[in-house]
Amino acid sequence: MSRWIKVLQRGRAFLHLSHRERSTPVSASGEGLQSSRFTNPLTPTLSPQGRGGALCSRRGLGLIAIILVVLTSPTFAQSKNDQPRQYGIGRAATAAEIAGWDIDIRPDGQGAPEGRGSVKEGEKVYMGKCAFCHGEFGEGVGRWPAVAQGQGTLATPTPAKTVGSYFPYLSSVFDYTRRAMPFGDAQSLSNDELYAVVAYMLNLNDIVDDKFVLSKETWAQVKMPNRDGFFDDDRETAEKKFWNDRPCMTNCRSPARITGRAGNVDVTPDKQNPSGESK
Ligand code: HEC
Repeated sequence: MSRWIKVLQRGRAFLHLSHRERSTPVSASGEGLQSSRFTNPLTPTLSPQGRGGALCSRRGLGLIAIILVVLTSPTFAQSKNDQPRQYGIGRAATAAEIAGWDIDIRPDGQGAPEGRGSVKEGEKVYMGKCAFCHGEFGEGVGRWPAVAQGQGTLATPTPAKTVGSYFPYLSSVFDYTRRAMPFGDAQSLSNDELYAVVAYMLNLNDIVDDKFVLSKETWAQVKMPNRDGFFDDDRETAEKKFWNDRPCMTNCRSPARITGRAGNVDVTPDKQNPSGESK
């Protein structure tokens, strides 16, 4: 606000105001503004224009009103041909910048990068950059997560979510690995290394054979075991019978009733209790 006032009220009245604003924190009750006149020795006596606040002078209010009208009028807010206004900042994104963001891949492989990698090549990448966490066979070292095995465990009390047991699409595995792995050095793999190491993990999960080469061209050959394990949220139909058409909205809880006291059953020894409730 003070900047508007600055524009509107060049001169002393504004100086008083901005000085007070800067030097006196306004308390929640607005006290600061009032008392500052007395407590701040640097605040000069307000000129007639300043008394009552530069904010409130008639001329100031009139000017603010005019500016508000101009700012909100359609002619000012939009250019003549109804195009959004140009603010004269920023620039069009370059093709390289867009490519950096545009990394999504569809389940059918559309959007996958150029490149290729074999299971054999992937074994080298995996042993060098992944196995010390995920295990030579994908079993997971220590408490690092497994990337293989675990098929058929999802509905058990100890589900193991791995590439073979959990991931629904190759694009999910590829995208996850591309963004997040190797852990601590994410996004350091070349596209070829990425294709290769994903191919190797597929092989660890018996999804492709030892000779497989992964690329855009072979993408569609990969069928993930859990691809049908995901379904659209069906709670609107599947759980409808649990829904209450007329839920309680007021006074829904019956009042609490005290049925026993800790002191009575001796779980909380309470020697100081003068009422003698405890034993
Ligand atoms: C320093 C240890 C470490 C290294 C090295 C590492 N990862 Fe991981 N990885 C993790 C952790 C931790 C997670 C789980 C992260 C989470 O859940 O947020 C994970 C998760 C994964 C998953 C998903 C796990 C699943 O099956 O649900 C895949 C796939 C994976 N990593 C692949 C790789 C590949 C490929 C490499 C090598 C290029 C690699 N990781 C290197 C620690 C590591």
